[in-house]
This record gives sequence, structure tokens and C-alpha cells, in this order.
Amino acid sequence: MTNWSRLVRPSLLGLDPYRPGPGVEELKERYGLTELAKLNWNEGLFGPFPGVSESVLAELDRAWMYPEHAYSDFREAVASWLGIRPELIVPGHGIQALIATVAHAFLDPGDAVVVPSATYGLYAQVSTAAGARVERVPGRAHRHDVEALADAAGRVGARLIWLCDPNNPTGSLLTRDEWEALLTELPERCAVVVDEAYAEYVHPEHRLRREADVEAGRPVIVLRTFSKIFGLAGLRLGYAVVDEQLAPFLDVVQEPFNVNRAALAAGRASLRHLDLVEKRRLENEHARETLARRLRGLGLEAIPSEANFLLVRVDTDDLTLAEGLLRRGLLIRPGHDFGMPGYIRATIGPVPLMNRLADELARILEKDSEERLEGAGQA
Ligand SMILES: Cc1ncc(COP(=O)(O)O)c(C=O)c1O
Repeated sequence: MTNWSRLVRPSLLGLDPYRPGPGVEELKERYGLTELAKLNWNEGLFGPFPGVSESVLAELDRAWMYPEHAYSDFREAVASWLGIRPELIVPGHGIQALIATVAHAFLDPGDAVVVPSATYGLYAQVSTAAGARVERVPGRAHRHDVEALADAAGRVGARLIWLCDPNNPTGSLLTRDEWEALLTELPERCAVVVDEAYAEYVHPEHRLRREADVEAGRPVIVLRTFSKIFGLAGLRLGYAVVDEQLAPFLDVVQEPFNVNRAALAAGRASLRHLDLVEKRRLENEHARETLARRLRGLGLEAIPSEANFLLVRVDTDDLTLAEGLLRRGLLIRPGHDFGMPGYIRATIGPVPLMNRLADELARILEKDSEERLEGAGQA
């Protein structure tokens, strides 16, 4: 028998694949459910924009052809939306693919990277697989600690700081001052990769336009996606905004035809309805505030969020609570999954769904406290 552990790169040994939790079909079968609301992966629950399905369908006639390698139409559409030059846009099949591309372009075995905690799990996973050492930097009050991040980067000689903003799972956003402080304190030979998967949900007054930092030649790489507000997670489409001189290096390590025709057509069709981005943002904000208010009414703390999810402090066993919700047809993420026991994270969706989540939480917590009272009475 071949012993593959001896043949694969040593940095992979002992690493588990990135696991975002079980899928819906598997859980429906396991729990005998006919419906299960997906509040676990922060997808765009409001669905794709109008006209997307028709554009994708029409594009399928051309499925026999490789996509245009330069992705010119898509890059031009994104660039014109953002008000930058198309040369700064590097498409990829989702941020996940672009994270791997960046790691591939920057990291050699033995390099160091800085990753805040808690944050999206893939940065540490991909960096470790590349053979890099991961220096974790805890946040403060559910926010990134920029001073500690810059200090750590200097101390370990980091090549990259991975920054998720708004952060998953907390939903918190850096202020302009925090961001400027981080850039100012950045050590030599270190770049910041900012994952802005949730940027379009941020209130316009709070939004940091990091394209300007890229244009100004700062060591910044911005990653964005069509998976969230545009509702296209299943098609896998994202892009990086990078310096024109960095783009060719990313293209060297990225697969040549890595974005498929259907995804590109969906992206272009979405960008024909830009007015809907603000409409969706407002819908999300309203639903998020409705859920936060209901949770406060239940005595639960919802961490202030600028994204399409809420992190909630439940002060009870999050795994049991998540299972209770699952049995009632609501799939959320227990904090255990991302190193935050005692918390849960739920994706924001239409208001009736948020009210249902609050109602079910209320029922479970009420039952829980009744049982505890009964238990105390019997003791
Ligand atoms: C912070 C963050 N980055 C990236 C992704 C995945 O993005 P994509 O679908 O573009 O690969 C997610 C998905 O949940 C995420 O939370």
C-alpha cells in the first residue's frame, strides 16, 4: 500500500479540511425534516437579482467554450461600478479561491502570518497548509485589536496580515482611524489582505473605500464576492482589487480558466441592477435590527453587526441550543464551531423568518428555564 502521508507536503500532516458544518440535505434526512431554513452560512437569503437566471441560461449555449481568459467584460463592469480601472480587478471563483491564490503567491514554508481571532477559519487553514506559521491575535470586545495586530506582525516578521472586515463571526467593522493606524504601523515586507465579503452590507457612512488605498500604492489586497448581497454563492464568483503590478503575479499562480461562463454572466447581469444593492442593504439592516430588538427582549446580547449575520451571546450550551433550533427547522452556527462557546451566529433573512427564529429561541429558552426551576424544586 502507498503511504500517502509520506508523499504529500509535510505541512499538510495533521491538518483537517476546512469544515463549514454539515449540509442541509444530510441534516433534513437525519432529523426527518421537510424544510430547513439555512441561517448557517451567511448566504444571501434574498436570492439572486432579477435577470440573472435568464442570462445564465442564455450563456449555457456557449458552455462548450472556455471563458474569455481576460474576463474583460466582467472586469470592466466591476471596475466601472467601483470607479477604478479594470486593470486592478482580478476575478476568481469566490474569495475562497482568491485566499488560496494570495497564499500561493506570498507564502513559503517557514514564513509567518498574522490572523486575528475569532475570524473566518480559512486564512489560518490555507496559510498552515502553505507551511506558514500562524500567529493568532485575540480581539478586544468583539473587535479587531489593530495595535496588537501590527505589533504581532513586527514581532514575527509576518508576510501577511489576514483581516476580515466586517469580521466573521462578530460582524464588527474597523473605523477609519483604526484602519489608518494599522497601515501606518505595518512593518516592512508585510501586506494586509482584507476580506470584504460583507462590505456591501455596511452603512455607507461607515464604509472604508479601500480601492483608494490600492490606487495609492499601499500594501493592501482587497477580496470581494458575489456570494453574499448578490445571492450567487452557488455559482462561485469573486474578485480581488489589487495594484496593477501585483495582478500578473496572482495570475501566475491562479488556474488560467478559473471562473466559469455561467458565473461571469450572472455577475454581469447583477451589475445591471446596481440600485438593488442599496435596496438589499436596507432590507438586511431592517431585518437585522428587528432580530436584534427581539433578542434584547429575550435578555440576549446581540453583538452590533454591519453584516448579514448576528453573533448572539446565549450564555447557555450553544450546541444544545443549535440542536433544539435544528429540530424546529432552523439551522444556525453554534459558537463551538469557531471557538466561541456560549454564542450562536445566525444569518439575516426576511423579517418573518427572523421573527420565527426569535419565537423558537424564546420557546427553547423558556422550556429550559422551566426545566431548571423544576429541577431546583425537586433538589
Ligand atoms: C469572511 C468570508 N470570506 C469568504 C467567504 C466565502 O466567500 P466566497 O463564497 O466568495 O468564496 C465567506 C463565506 O461565508 C466569509 O464569511
